[in-house]
Amino acid sequence: MMETAVTNIVRNITVKGIEQEGDNMKLAVIYDSKTGNTRQAGEWIAEGMNRAEETEARAFSIHDIDEDFVKEAKGIVIGSPSYAAQLTPDLHTWLLSSAGALGFAGKLGGAFATEQFTHGGGETVIQSILMIELVNGMLCYSSGGACGMPVIHLGPIGVNNNVEKHNDMEHYKDNYIIFGERFAKKVSEVFG
Ligand SMILES: Cc1cc2nc3c(=O)[nH]c(=O)nc-3n(C[C@H](O)[C@H](O)[C@H](O)COP(=O)(O)O)c2cc1C
Repeated sequence: MMETAVTNIVRNITVKGIEQEGDNMKLAVIYDSKTGNTRQAGEWIAEGMNRAEETEARAFSIHDIDEDFVKEAKGIVIGSPSYAAQLTPDLHTWLLSSAGALGFAGKLGGAFATEQFTHGGGETVIQSILMIELVNGMLCYSSGGACGMPVIHLGPIGVNNNVEKHNDMEHYKDNYIIFGERFAKKVSEVFG
C-alpha cells in the first residue's frame, strides 16, 4: 500500500516534469552580426528570457535559423548593428523574405541594436525593425517606462569599444538580460 502511494507520487512528479518541459514557451532571438557584438547582445537577451519560468529561448543568426523553432515561438526579438543608422541590408532582405513564411503575425515582437558611437543610430535601427514587425502583424513590446529602472524606451542598445575606448558591450549586458526577462514575462501574460 505504502509502496503504491510512493510509486504514484514519483510517477506524477515525473509525468508533470515531462509535461512542463514539453509545454515550455518558446522564444526566439534573431540577429545579424558580422563581428560578434550583436550576436553577444542576442545571447544575453536569450539568457534573460531563460530566467523566466517555463521558457525555452534560443538565439539564431539569420544565416543559421531553426525554422521549426521560430514558427513555434510566441515571441521574437530581432537585432541589428547600426549601419548608417539603419538595420543591415542582409537583415532587411531576410526580414522581407522570411517574416511571412515563419509566421511572425500575431507573435510578440521586440528589437535591439548595437553601435560603435553613443549617438550612432541604434534608436532608429530599432524603430525600423519595430516598423517591419508591425507591418507583419506582430504585437510590439519594449517594456518602456512601465517596469522602472532600467527604463528601456524602444529596446536595448549597446555601444562597443571599437572607437569609444571608455565604452564596452559589457557595460550594457544587464540591460539586455533584463530586457529578455521582461519580454519573456510579457509573452507569458499575453499567451500563457
Ligand atoms: C558598413 C558599416 C556601417 C556602420 N555604421 C555605423 C553607424 O552609423 N553608427 C555606429 O555607431 N556604428 C556603425 N557601424 C559600427 C557597427 O554598428 C558596430 O560596430 C556594431 O556593434 C557591429 O555589430 P556586429 O559586431 O554584430 O557586426 C557601422 C559598421 C559598418 C560595417
